[in-house]
Amino acid sequence: MTTDARSRYLDLLMGCLTREVFLDQEVRNIDLARWPGGDDIRSILKEQGWRLVEPSGDPAVRSVGNDWPPTAETMAGTARLRNTLDCCRKVIEDDVPGDFMETGVWRGGNTILMRAVLAAYDDADRQVWVADSFEGLPAGDGDRFPADDGIDFSVFPQLAVSADDVRANFARYDLLDERVRFLEGWFADTLPTAPIQQLSVLRLDGDLYQSTIEALDALYPKLAVGGYVIVDDYGAWESCREAVTDYRRDHGIDDEIIPVDWTGAYWRRTR
Ligand SMILES: C[S@@+](CC[C@H](N)C(=O)[O-])C[C@H]1O[C@@H](n2cnc3c(N)ncnc32)[C@H](O)[C@@H]1O
Repeated sequence: MTTDARSRYLDLLMGCLTREVFLDQEVRNIDLARWPGGDDIRSILKEQGWRLVEPSGDPAVRSVGNDWPPTAETMAGTARLRNTLDCCRKVIEDDVPGDFMETGVWRGGNTILMRAVLAAYDDADRQVWVADSFEGLPAGDGDRFPADDGIDFSVFPQLAVSADDVRANFARYDLLDERVRFLEGWFADTLPTAPIQQLSVLRLDGDLYQSTIEALDALYPKLAVGGYVIVDDYGAWESCREAVTDYRRDHGIDDEIIPVDWTGAYWRRTR
């Protein structure tokens, strides 16, 4: 692939994953009960399988990843997706060894992009690790993790996306193969024993203190020098930021934290 074709492919893919390339067509289902007509028309519509939808694609919001999109494969937005792309590209160009991984994938968009980078750069060795409960977030466990006290994202069914749905999303872009490795279950159960040798890009997107610290504890030691840690929720969630601060303090990490947008941040491991 020429350099130009590679960038065009990856740019187009990112635009598809966020739906930004056809945002004018993005709609959200709304409850048929809100149909202003009478009950009899409503039941006919229901019988015939009609849907009631409303426009749901504000470019200003989507570009900075500040909504839960109805169909897009990522809620991260363009700036954070591009940061994932840049980190993956840089470690390939600099020959930093190790796989790519995201902990907390939702519909899989960031990991789909990671797999596409491997394809675009003819990388024959690296794998992409896709770690999630595939049933949403745990309720915050304030006893063990005080920073998560009172936080409960487990009540949002929109955050529970099955592994089969994520596989289907990879397949939609012809990027599902044996180099995409699913780790299904709670991070505390899957990450410490995952058969991962080395990582070069580790993207954390589990929102909670618990989900962030469990990922760092299990995986940071496997990150190669020259590799990147990306923290999606660094600006958005105090709980996540606290986990990063605690981990860095306890392990003497002083690599510069670089902001990506209003929430995302990353650093490059120098030692
Ligand atoms: C905000 S979403 C991730 C968004 C995604 N990275 C994207 O690009 O759109 C958070 C995800 O983390 C997962 N998650 C959070 N904490 C977890 C834990 N402790 N164990 C397993 N999965 C977890 C949830 O199931 C959910 O899919």
